[in-house]
Amino acid sequence: MDTHTHQKLLIIDFGSQVTQLIARRLRELNVYCEIHPYQNVTDAFLSQFAPQAVILSGGPASVIDEGSPRAPQSLFNMGIPVLGICYGQQVMMTQLGGLVETGHGTAEFGRAFITPSGKSLPLLEGWFAGGPEQVWMSHGDHVSRIAPGFDVYGTSPNAPFAITADTSRNFYAVQFHPEVHHTPNGGQFYRNFVKLAGFTGDWTMKAYREQAIAEIREQVGDAKVICGLSGGVDSSVAAVLIHEAIGDQLTCVFVDHGLLRKGEADEVVTMFRDNYNIPLVHADESELFLGALDGQSDPETKRKIIGKLFIDVFEKHAKSVGGAKFLAQGTLYPDVIESVSFSGGPSVTIKSHHNVGGLPEKMGLKLVEPLRELFKDEVRALGRELGLPPSFVGRHPFPGPGLAIRCPGEITRQKLDILREADAVYLDQIRKHGLYDEIWQAYVAILPVRTVGVMGDGRTYDYACALRAVTSVDGMTADYYPFTHDFLGETATRLINEVKGINRVTYDITSKPPGTIEWE
Ligand code: XMP
Repeated sequence: MDTHTHQKLLIIDFGSQVTQLIARRLRELNVYCEIHPYQNVTDAFLSQFAPQAVILSGGPASVIDEGSPRAPQSLFNMGIPVLGICYGQQVMMTQLGGLVETGHGTAEFGRAFITPSGKSLPLLEGWFAGGPEQVWMSHGDHVSRIAPGFDVYGTSPNAPFAITADTSRNFYAVQFHPEVHHTPNGGQFYRNFVKLAGFTGDWTMKAYREQAIAEIREQVGDAKVICGLSGGVDSSVAAVLIHEAIGDQLTCVFVDHGLLRKGEADEVVTMFRDNYNIPLVHADESELFLGALDGQSDPETKRKIIGKLFIDVFEKHAKSVGGAKFLAQGTLYPDVIESVSFSGGPSVTIKSHHNVGGLPEKMGLKLVEPLRELFKDEVRALGRELGLPPSFVGRHPFPGPGLAIRCPGEITRQKLDILREADAVYLDQIRKHGLYDEIWQAYVAILPVRTVGVMGDGRTYDYACALRAVTSVDGMTADYYPFTHDFLGETATRLINEVKGINRVTYDITSKPPGTIEWE
């Protein structure tokens, strides 16, 4: 059953690196959209999805190449607005009777300036107010003849057809990428497009909450559901939402693997049991996990051990709640998009992230994933809508394997204790300086080296640690946070004075890529 009652926009993905940004721009305007790879968008799909408008994304292919991706021709007979971006523009021109050619010094990469042609166009309302408009280009091929019915509304030095439109059919085709940050007026561009396409901005968290609750009830019926709680935002929001839908049919399982931060288990248990009255199994399995990790220092081995033990523990508790039929997960939209890869090829494994992907199959459980249409910031908005405390909703992400992957080399109880104390001091510093919400994630890693220091009149020989703090939108790419020297100096002093076992502090300034956020 499709319980969507809001207006829908379809993004046909031709594989651009920035397609997700189109979705983000639209969601920010309260417009519901979905990204689907072009291979999946058939005539039947189009009529069943019934979008109110369609955007064709950019992509790495060349329309000149035989067998290169196309949109279904029926799209252009649906009578709905279509916007083509970069490769999407070239697809439109090719399919509607224009011509695309390659090379001859007309490639453009990076910043470009567009001048208006003089004719007005609702799509460009608010543009060109201060002269030529800055945009971001990334194309090798170019349109050399526009399709019949189209007019030119803007040109750049290397793209005489940078903005074209057939206003009688509501078709728009642009060579640049309005979704990227380097097109400063891109937000206005999308606002204009959704306005002319008749979107009223009906995608709100209140509407989503009601729709999700109806869907969960329909899917689950009177069966039992278990939900693995990590204390992170995603699983917490999923649990509260599902509890609102099905009440005590839901049992949450919070596994304490002994790799949590200071005070974490108490915070999570209090929040769920005391504030929400959600049935919660607090499984203290720290001996099991730490015992199995004893003597292990290889990052992948550690992750695999932890992943397997999670499965064992869940299995035990699924039985103990009297036969759950469903497993709830806080899967987000970026995970769903990534799983339908453009090329269809498997991407290289950088780290085997612990998740419970293999679990449902093994245990014969079906999945309930009420957040699979949301981005992280939308999950936070839904959490606020559901009344979760701001301190919970705004929490930094915390990885499933916990402190194990912040302790390169062998994990010992002593190192974990040091890590917990150091992490608490570091986060306290960040909060005190009002920086917590500006930072995507911050933590301390304890390094497998001991260094010589001097404290008072004595020699010390203690562990070195690395501080990490990054900014990011979705964790896929990240940059280090530019703390002031004063902040770093003060934090280092506090760590060395307050945490027994650490005598040296470093700050990790690696971006991702080439680094990753976690050390292991
Ligand atoms: P990396 O280190 O891959 O981390 O740059 C990206 C984001 O994912 C988190 N992370 C994990 N989360 N299970 C999780 O639930 C994992 O195994 C895992 N490994 C990394 C990491 O904290 C960061 O937010």
